[in-house]
Amino acid sequence: MSDSSVSRKRSKWDEDEDEPSLPQNPPPKRRTKQKPAQGSTSVTPTPPPQPYISQLHSHYVPPRTHHPPIMPSRSVYCYERLNQIEEGSYGVVFRARDKQTGDIVALKKLKLDEEKNGFPITALREVNALMTCRHENVVGIREVVVGDTLTQVFVVMDFIEHDLKSLLTLMPSPFLQSEIKTLMLQLLSAVGHCHSNWILHRDLKTSNLLMNNRGTIKVADFGLARRYGDPVGVGGMTQLVVTLWYRAPEILLGATTYSTAVDMWSVGCIFAELIMKEPLFQAKGEIELLSMIFKLLGPPTSDSWPEYSTLPLAKTISLPSPQPPQFRQKFPYLTAAGIDLLMSLLMYDPDRRITAEEALEHPYFTESPFPKHPDLFGSFPSAAAGEKKRALWSPSAPRAADHKLLTDFDAPNS
Ligand SMILES: Nc1ncnc2c1ncn2[C@@H]1O[C@H](COP(=O)(O)OP(=O)(O)O)[C@@H](O)[C@H]1O
Ligand SMILES: [Mg+2]
Repeated sequence: MSDSSVSRKRSKWDEDEDEPSLPQNPPPKRRTKQKPAQGSTSVTPTPPPQPYISQLHSHYVPPRTHHPPIMPSRSVYCYERLNQIEEGSYGVVFRARDKQTGDIVALKKLKLDEEKNGFPITALREVNALMTCRHENVVGIREVVVGDTLTQVFVVMDFIEHDLKSLLTLMPSPFLQSEIKTLMLQLLSAVGHCHSNWILHRDLKTSNLLMNNRGTIKVADFGLARRYGDPVGVGGMTQLVVTLWYRAPEILLGATTYSTAVDMWSVGCIFAELIMKEPLFQAKGEIELLSMIFKLLGPPTSDSWPEYSTLPLAKTISLPSPQPPQFRQKFPYLTAAGIDLLMSLLMYDPDRRITAEEALEHPYFTESPFPKHPDLFGSFPSAAAGEKKRALWSPSAPRAADHKLLTDFDAPNS
């Protein structure tokens, strides 16, 4: 999309403050009883039966009113554009106000300009996955609206003040352990919900996790999501999923069928990132990423990953000499239970990797410090809402200044 076309389309939506001319359904035709003509005799001729063909709908297609979910989309002009939040890989995201209710929402403009083959499957998957996976910790989809042309389609979502990536960059010190537990419980519960609805997210990372000022995270960006469990077509599932740093080793090694475990690997990377306040595997390429993984976990063995040697790219990789895992050195202040959860998420063998449902029951969450109630999280200025970087933390959120204090000092606040 060229810059000029972007600004033209945006300003058009922004400047036009007129009320939208919504496509309206014609009011249903009332079947009025035929009044007998005045002065008619008591013998009113009954109208002849209508031939079937003249009825409003065919025998085979039920009338539209039998499909309440199929309704014309509203116009984007029902919303007043406030500011642009971000231009992501698939679309631009705006903050906007619903002119009818005053609600503040986020509109993600789907990139359809270059589409030659109709509505793109990625956009359909995104809308479908968001609707299938409704959950307290999944960003709420409100509707899909259309602009002036067929290439202007927007997904309307609840507006959420932050994304975790920006928040982690702005925060002066890492989240407390009690906070990490709350965030992880929320993330696991959302991911478990998606998986139980047969949806793989396939792009879990901190910039796709939104967080509001009430200590709640919402999984967003289902642009790469797909159903799993369906028969997989010729060629298998694409390996072009999951942003590199969060990509599971089976995908890196060319597996063409994979499942919920790929999301769990990403959850492991996110867990480590919440602790360290920076991404765990900041690799420049796939080979570097694999060697970073081998270093942290120790290289895979026939014991830790029996299927390793059968993976398409395994033969092209020369494994380093055996070494023990480095989790303890890398996360010196994490409790034994915390290390165990991290190792269960970052496990080579996808069949043995912990599931979201199992992880929710992990002892890490029931040992001190306990998960902090979301209401006790501080509120932060929202960059997405154009708020200034004033006092970063509200007074209700005292911070432990030192990484070392994570496990010792947040217990009383929890
Ligand atoms: N509902 C929302 N509320 C607030 N910000 C959002 C919302 N959805 C997305 N964003 C912001 O826009 C960015 C890009 O959105 P995303 O859905 O991840 O698009 P992409 O597929 O282009 O990565 C996010 O990282 C986040 O900062
Ligand atoms: Mg994204």
